[in-house]
Amino acid sequence: MDQFDVVVVGAGAAGMMCAAEAGKRGRSVLVVDHAAAPGEKIRISGGGRCNFTNLNAAPQNYISGNPSFCISALRRYTQRDFIALIESYGIAYHEKTLGQLFCDGSSRQIVDLLLAEMKRHGVELSLRTAVERVEKTPDGFRLAFSNGAAECRSLVVAAGGKSIPKMGATGWGYDIAAQFGLSVTETRPALVPLTLEPTTLERLKPLAGVAVDAVASCGKARFPEAMLFTHRGLSGPAILQISSYWREGAEITLSMLPGTNVFEELRGARAQNGRQALQTALSAFLPKRLAQLIAETENATGNLADLSDKALRRIDEAVNQWRFKPAGSEGYRTAEVTLGGVDTRELDSRTMEAKSIPGLYFIGEVVDVTGWLGGYNFQWAWSSGWSAGQAV
Ligand code: FDA
Repeated sequence: MDQFDVVVVGAGAAGMMCAAEAGKRGRSVLVVDHAAAPGEKIRISGGGRCNFTNLNAAPQNYISGNPSFCISALRRYTQRDFIALIESYGIAYHEKTLGQLFCDGSSRQIVDLLLAEMKRHGVELSLRTAVERVEKTPDGFRLAFSNGAAECRSLVVAAGGKSIPKMGATGWGYDIAAQFGLSVTETRPALVPLTLEPTTLERLKPLAGVAVDAVASCGKARFPEAMLFTHRGLSGPAILQISSYWREGAEITLSMLPGTNVFEELRGARAQNGRQALQTALSAFLPKRLAQLIAETENATGNLADLSDKALRRIDEAVNQWRFKPAGSEGYRTAEVTLGGVDTRELDSRTMEAKSIPGLYFIGEVVDVTGWLGGYNFQWAWSSGWSAGQAV
């Protein structure tokens, strides 16, 4: 039976950060992962360039049953700390938009950095290793693997959530929490494209591939970003963001020309040239296919001169206050993250250790802390992983 100070389950962003930090503190560390390669989600993230953090990361960018839980970790290991680490490895990066930092080269550089940090601090990595059983011992834990066994004083669960099962996501971390009697909040797919009921989808079919800068709102949440019409429904950053706040049966409002008073613009266009078609006037602001669909849907395919103020106001509403009820979401198959997770009331916010089970830690996505789109989720992985790394 191999003995370690620390066993980390999950060689993802959080697990590798935690392992490197624990190794730096002189702990003997084993990281196990059932996948064939470490950091697979890092590798595919950000279109292959990994949006590794956000310059503006702050507690208000996170959703949790206890919104103040993330404050301590985010303060102790900030985006500036991770940027300093990136720079120490000479990795070039740039801000794309809204504080989102991406590698200039490839997300592979981030995986390599974490592997180099682990190697430098003597961390062992065992891939293709599934955890079959976890038992409590008087002074730690005993783990049975598909290819061996180990004992450790500290066990760190960094197994991620349920999103993208094809990449090995299992929800195993929630089962371990349950095994030790810890509560888990409701989990659901988040940062996920939304689907539409068949008649709306049929009507919007010609728009597949069309993108606009929009504002998506649901309740008090509001995201001004791009949105995209797809063959299955709606996607793009504004939709992914709002999906984390949407619940079944709720309405989403889309403004597809935010900041433009469409009624006034159309009235002006009518006064100037009443013989132009509505869709032509709308095309000055919106993609042609969208302008045409709005004109057709509002039964206003004639000249502007034929349209009353009331009709123009209706069109303004269709553009800037389009309300719809999504049929659902694309689910874990395409969701970037899992909302919900190990209840933060069970954990110490400074160390991520379970209050009732000394030596058991939960970090990263498995915890009920979910970031917005834009590098916030990786920052949570770095911050929570680093915090546990100082304590194990
Ligand atoms: P993560 O899922 O990364 O790692 C968990 C590890 O545990 C995996 O390696 C898995 O194989 C392993 N594991 C699971 N069960 C196991 C078991 N039973 N036994 C052994 N090992 C097990 N975020 C962001 O901030 N910027 C971005 O650009 C993106 N982009 C992005 C794109 C796509 C397509 C997705 C799906 C997600 C993103 N994200 C993102 C979200 C980000 O990937 C996510 O928040 C982090 O990877 C979470 O890190 P963790 O280490 O917690 O879990």
